Order: sequence, then C-alpha cells, then structure tokens
Amino acid sequence: MADNARLQDHGATLDKVTAAVREAGDGRRALAAAVGVLKQQMPDYTWVGIYVLDGNDLVLGPFVGKPSPHVRIPVGQGICGAAAAERATIVVDDVNADPRYLACSVETQSEIVVPIVHEGRVLGEIDIDSDRPAAFTAADRTLLEAVAALLAPGLHAVRTADSSTD
Ligand code: SME
Repeated sequence: MADNARLQDHGATLDKVTAAVREAGDGRRALAAAVGVLKQQMPDYTWVGIYVLDGNDLVLGPFVGKPSPHVRIPVGQGICGAAAAERATIVVDDVNADPRYLACSVETQSEIVVPIVHEGRVLGEIDIDSDRPAAFTAADRTLLEAVAALLAPGLHAVRTADSSTD
C-alpha cells in the first residue's frame, strides 16, 4: 500500500510538472516551473536545482533551497560532473561515503542527478539533495528522467537562441 501511495505521488507530480511546463511557455521559465513543482510536491526533496551546460562547465540555474557554493562545476567533477560525463543518472544513497561528492549542505544525506539530454547531447541536469539517507527510489528516477525529457526540447531552444545572439 505504501508503495502504491508513493507511485501515485510520483504520477501526480509528473502531471503537475507537465502542466506547469506547458504553461511556462518558454524553456527557461519551464526550468524554474519544474523546480518549483518538484520542491513543493515531494517532501524528501530538500534542495532542487537545475544546472545548465556552458562550454565544459555546469552553471547553476533555477533552484529552491539553501544557496549552494557550487554555482559552476566542471564536467567530470562532483556527482553533478560525473553524471554529465557519463550521460547517465547517478543515485547516491550516502553522499558522505562517495569521494566524488561536493558538499552543498551538512544536512544532505543522499542525492540524485539526472542529465537533460537532447539528441544525444547533455544540455544540463536536474540535481536533487535530500536530508534523508537513501531517499531516491526507482520511482524517483523514473519521475525525474521523465521531467528531464520534458525539459530537453525547451532547453535546447533557449540555448540555440542564446548562442545566435552572442
Ligand atoms: N553535490 C553536488 C554539488 C551540487 S550541490 O549539491 C547543490 C555534487 O557533488 O556534484
């Protein structure tokens, strides 16, 4: 029963993120809308943010939670940089046991990082920290990978627009 309840929560959250992304209109606002809905709907998500790839660095975009010292992370560094380099979701049940971990808050116990990939290229990633150990299940991964897929075309569009006006 508890598992069903969790799955329903994830499904309802995906519906709310989908609606918020549609309403947001443009890709940059969609990132902020998705972050806001995820933080509001999921009690274990203590810190929710999106990093956007800029050259070889991940630059912090919209987030909800305490300010992070890590506003620019080179690909390959930290759990964020590892997920971008591997182009794969990384779930860390105990951040203090992972030598790659870049600390954001002493309360953080677990983390999930989900790359936002468009046409095979990493454009950014969703990063979520929890104050609960091993907070991220297969259902969280499924939810967040669906959200990343939802955000990818809009993020691609704003990055293309930004680079053509540079
Ligand atoms: N923990 C991340 C750094 C970002 S903060 O969690 C916001 C990492 O190890 O890459």
